[in-house]
Formats: sequence, structure tokens, C-alpha cells
Amino acid sequence: MSATSPLRIVALTRRYGRLTAVDQVDLEVRNGEIVGFLGPNGAGKTTTLKVCAGLLKADQGQVTIAGASLEREPRRARSRLGFVPDRPFLYDRLSAFEFVEFVGALYDVPAARVWERAEQLFERLGLGAAANDRIETYSHGMRQKASVAAALVHDPPLALLDEPLTGLDPRAARALKDLLRERAARGLGVLVSTHLLEVAERLCDRVVILHRGRVIAQGTLDELRGARSQASLEDVFLELTSADERDAP
Ligand SMILES: Nc1ncnc2c1ncn2[C@@H]1O[C@H](COP(=O)(O)OP(=O)(O)OP(=O)(O)O)[C@@H](O)[C@H]1O
Ligand SMILES: [Mg+2]
Repeated sequence: MSATSPLRIVALTRRYGRLTAVDQVDLEVRNGEIVGFLGPNGAGKTTTLKVCAGLLKADQGQVTIAGASLEREPRRARSRLGFVPDRPFLYDRLSAFEFVEFVGALYDVPAARVWERAEQLFERLGLGAAANDRIETYSHGMRQKASVAAALVHDPPLALLDEPLTGLDPRAARALKDLLRERAARGLGVLVSTHLLEVAERLCDRVVILHRGRVIAQGTLDELRGARSQASLEDVFLELTSADERDAP
């Protein structure tokens, strides 16, 4: 494991009362890698991502963002990541442009750079002219686009995205996938949760499958397929997560 990987999670555990939502999870996103974060509903993906983003406290374990410990240097660690939550957190009374400007200022990005990046991101994601309208007038997909632009405005070493394609139209989904690929090509890291296994199959360099809070498999698609070279990621996923399903209490 490299100390400067965009993301390093070691033995992370997070409980809600008596429920252990994330149980001893180890996960790394290396430079230039897009890692798909998969798992059935309730597996613990959102909880893991929120802990990494600094929004929830870990009960045990360590999270390191591009060399900065989330526990010991939280500000530095958080400045090195961008988070796209499953439900966008935005200010309705601002326009997308103003919101991204606000987030850029929080991260000390020079204003001229923010404007340039905001314009590029809105153009590519297809928010266009609406970027100057109040967020309260936006559709679900438009909110998602504003949320993505805000997460990437400071060009962080790590992007964490929680089901970012939900609600995006096909053109915007393609634009986002291209953006993530370009980030990876520049050596940055991406961890993206998704239920769209065909997307994971094509977009991700590696996948991590979480089930009941634990990592039950990880690797490239070829590694997960093992001997069954014709299997799709869907076949592998359903097989890995069904055996346990039958054992469920
Ligand atoms: N705020 C909370 N309080 C109590 N339990 C919670 C809370 N948030 C999540 N949980 C529980 O923690 C477990 C993991 O939830 P989480 O949202 O992390 O799963 P997920 O993998 O993101 O699922 P999905 O695919 O449905 O988004 C679930 O059992 C869920 O009920
Ligand atoms: Mg979730």
C-alpha cells in the first residue's frame, strides 16, 4: 500500500446503536484508479462514504486521504476530497454557479479558477444557462449536476461519489463517466458506489463488493470471474451475495 494513495481505509468500523453497518473494512483507491463500490441495499456503502467524507465519525479504524489522516488532520484530509452524496446538499436560494463559487471559496480556490472550472463543468454536464437560475427551480438531475460540479471545483486528489448516475440523463451520465475517466488518467482517484453493474463493468478498474458491512470480494472483473471467464459482473455479484442471503436470520 502506498502512503499517498488517494484513499486508504484500514479496519473501518461504524455502528448505529447495536447495528454494525460497516465492519472492519479495508479498502484502497490507488493513483489513477476508478474503484466501483458495490453491494446490496443496506450493505454499508453510504455509511462508508460518509465516514470517508468526514460527515460521520468512525468507531474504529483509520481513513487516510491522499496522505492526510482524517482523524489527526481532518481539515487537510477533507480538503483533498470531493463528495457527491446520494441526496445532494445544496442551498436552494443560490444558483448553481453561486453555490460552486461558495464551495470554491471554502477551499481557497482563486475566483478566476473557480469561474473557469465552473463554466467547464456546467458546459460538459449540460447545465448550461440554468446554472444562473436558483437551485430551488431545478429538477432532480439538475441538482445532481450542481452537486457534481461543487464536488470537483477544487480538483481534489480523491472523488467520492454515491450513486452519482441516478437521475442523470444519458448524455449527462456519459459526460460524468468521461470526467471520471479523465481524472483517473491524470492520476487522481475515484470511489463510486453504484447499482448499475454494466456501468461498473465498463467504467471501473476494480470493484469492491460490500455485503452486510463486510468486504466479501474485490478485484478486477477478471479476478472476480475466476475460472468462469464468460460470467458477467451481474452473475458474479448475484452469486456472491445470494449464498449469504439464504443464511440470513
Ligand atoms: N442514520 C442511521 N441510523 C440507523 N441505521 C442506519 C442509519 N443509516 C443507515 N443505517 C443502517 O445501516 C446499514 C447500512 O446503510 P447504508 O445506507 O450505509 O447502506 P447502502 O449500502 O448505502 O445501501 P443502499 O444501496 O440502499 O444505498 C443499513 O442497515 C441501514 O438501515
Ligand atoms: Mg446508499
